[in-house]
Amino acid sequence: MKNSVFIKTFGCQMNDYDSYRMLKLLESSGYTAAASYDEASVILINTCSVREKAEVKAYSELGRLKFLKRNNPALIIGVAGCIAQQEGKKLLGKYPQLDLVVGTYALTKVPALLSQIRGRRQKIVCTDMNGAEMYPAGSYVPEKHQITSFVSIMQGCENYCSYCIVPFVRGPERSREMTEIVDEVCRLAESGVKEVTLLGQNVNSYGRTLTPQRTFPELLAAINAIPGLERIRFTTSHPKDLSPELIEAFRDIDKLCEHIHLPLQSGSDRVLRRMNRKYTAAEYLKKIAALRKMVPDISITSDMIVGFPGETEENFQATLDAVAEVGFDDLFFFRYSDRPGTKASGFTDKVPYEIMIQRLTTLKDKQTEISIAKNKRLVGMTLPVLFEEKSQRSPEHMAGRTRTNKVVNSMAPERIIGTTALVKIERAHIHSLSGKLL
Ligand code: SAH
Ligand code: SF4
Ligand code: F3S
Repeated sequence: MKNSVFIKTFGCQMNDYDSYRMLKLLESSGYTAAASYDEASVILINTCSVREKAEVKAYSELGRLKFLKRNNPALIIGVAGCIAQQEGKKLLGKYPQLDLVVGTYALTKVPALLSQIRGRRQKIVCTDMNGAEMYPAGSYVPEKHQITSFVSIMQGCENYCSYCIVPFVRGPERSREMTEIVDEVCRLAESGVKEVTLLGQNVNSYGRTLTPQRTFPELLAAINAIPGLERIRFTTSHPKDLSPELIEAFRDIDKLCEHIHLPLQSGSDRVLRRMNRKYTAAEYLKKIAALRKMVPDISITSDMIVGFPGETEENFQATLDAVAEVGFDDLFFFRYSDRPGTKASGFTDKVPYEIMIQRLTTLKDKQTEISIAKNKRLVGMTLPVLFEEKSQRSPEHMAGRTRTNKVVNSMAPERIIGTTALVKIERAHIHSLSGKLL
């Protein structure tokens, strides 16, 4: 029987990208992609530990796999990603059904590790954080009919926000060579990809670790010149590093879409200081004003943490005020979650659960109003939409996005997928728009 692999992914877009890369590497070593657990001879769980909730999900998945292994002892089960990096060989003790624990620095070794396991029926833990080649150049052939794609431009983070596990599980910041990124995007564009999203924990510091040093706007300009590509997006940029050059790039780089995800986390300077975010609310607002001056219609989204240790009612009010003042297009809200080993986990003034939930609800309600109002302003406008897929609404509807990253559903023939067309916006919802194809 041919070896087939099923990869289940938890966590962020970097994990999606990594899972995809692992799958492609395994395919080039003779594996096929299995459609489900039942058809797989190898199962990999790519995990996230950014918040407790993400961790619980991954752990319960690992627990479920025990039964599969019992029914099929030849099955190989591996765990990858941020929990694997953090917990290492402890996982083998907790989950005897596991054969492989592979950390965030060793993804390219997965095919070799699997054949080692198969050959010797031994368990392997590989969590060294030394300079493994993360993305072998030229190893990756894009899928046909893919419209959008992620491209990782950097790994790791060394900002050490006091609540965050990422620097511990992803290591220090390393940028990928510019030529390698450009080459990857060229191949994506040649295969028909119209939009790329450049990925990194803090893309705006791209290039610092390269010799010669490069900057993120330089990379954007190089990618902008690639024929066939229509849209460039990126995520995430840290407010402290949002440079005037990047703000100008929104004006000057025509393929760069008018949307920025710029996590504020809190509107209170006291909380921001304790989070080690290295900016004040006023500095953040100033950057937003500069962005809007350059590109009046830019859409702005953000992440917010409620119930950070020591957050007072007054501090929370400052978050509500900032949210009202900025008028975000959309927000991701998180309840503070203790992460082992982080500085904030040692803070003793934790906010009680009920208060966190109350604040979360208040913030959500406020943002819902704002999101709807923002979207309503688009009703009546005609906007270019890049259609990406069939809509979940009905077989006659197709879904795409505006340059400002708003999802638009529209009645359209399926062949529209992959093209950009004008849509007259007719209705606004909280997280999407709908309209008529012109
Ligand atoms: N590098 C990105 C975000 C990475 S994690 C950035 O700096 O913006 C994504 C989001 O998860 C963060 O923006 C933060 O809002 C949230 N988050 C991270 N750690 C958290 C924790 N311990 N508790 C609650 N939310 C957290
Ligand atoms: Fe975490 Fe802060 Fe790095 Fe983002 S910038 S990944 S929140 S440490
Ligand atoms: Fe989660 Fe790791 Fe991403 S902790 S958010 S999968 S970097």
